[in-house]
Amino acid sequence: MGKSWTPGRVNLIGEWIDFNGGWVLPAALPLGVEITVTPHREALDRVCSAQFDNRAEAPLNTPARGHWADYVFGALQAARREGYLAGGANVEVTSDIPAGAGVSSSAAVTLGVLKAVAPETTCRTHLAKLARGVENNFIGVPCGIMDQMAVAHTLPGEALSLNTRTLDFDRVAIPPDWRFVVLHSGVTRKLADGRYKLRREACLEAARAVELDWLCDADDISDLPASLRPIARHVIDENHRAKAAIKALRAGEAEKFGALMTASHVSLRDDFDVSTPEVDALVASAVDRGALGARITGAGFGGCCVLLLPGSMGQDWLDPLLNDHPAARLICELERV
Ligand code: GLA
Repeated sequence: MGKSWTPGRVNLIGEWIDFNGGWVLPAALPLGVEITVTPHREALDRVCSAQFDNRAEAPLNTPARGHWADYVFGALQAARREGYLAGGANVEVTSDIPAGAGVSSSAAVTLGVLKAVAPETTCRTHLAKLARGVENNFIGVPCGIMDQMAVAHTLPGEALSLNTRTLDFDRVAIPPDWRFVVLHSGVTRKLADGRYKLRREACLEAARAVELDWLCDADDISDLPASLRPIARHVIDENHRAKAAIKALRAGEAEKFGALMTASHVSLRDDFDVSTPEVDALVASAVDRGALGARITGAGFGGCCVLLLPGSMGQDWLDPLLNDHPAARLICELERV
């Protein structure tokens, strides 16, 4: 029997650049998923979870069926290919990460299954690559590697400064007086519905047009077709913002970090076009009331925002904000070291 606990993640900055050769800064949530895997001799896998819609089973090499348990079945299939598991397994999933909110519940489940069955000394980056493979090849979402690396390498209280090109990374502690709060906007989103793929293809097309492997390396985009220019502008600027934010975090410059977060939101809203009016209103309202920074997080199209608040702002600050945005709710506050 193997057990694991894996956190969800919130991306603090560096959005939509993990397949464009950029830097990202995701942080672990205090929320996570607990996985128990019990191998058996039958030629089928079973999953059960109280949080999701209970139980599912599938013969060993079943393709994805559009069910939440696909992430578990896909991870078990990858584990068998790696030799971590010989036959079928029963898997129990207990999670307090909200699903479909942009905080990587699926990466945590996939990585968590792999972690539970792999030998303890297995390189976590290798597990992250396998988990990304499950998303790309089994589920069919062409995501980058940020989420899997984040949940593989960080614990609550830490952010991951990650070069997505080389996979070099550093864990950075969240300073004790930096209050990051994650709010759900109330707008639900789904990645596999094709919008992620379309944005990704536009980035790859822009990189081809400027004859570069990585769009983050571009500087002159004036020759790009007008439809690709804003997308490329976001990618290039976001990489600069992410690098500046990593420096600001290390230097303890919260105001600078917050301003970069808000600039990232504006770029995701106006150039990359992955925000929604509800999220824009929530972000604007948070900044108007004194948040140091606020932005949509993850792929976007709804889901969550992350706010950086001055240490003095507590529940009495948050309550009126949530009153004015009744669809929004608090997901969690990040732990600090
Ligand atoms: C999703 C993907 C990541 C990344 C973000 C956008 O979370 O899984 O790979 O591309 O969107 O930054």
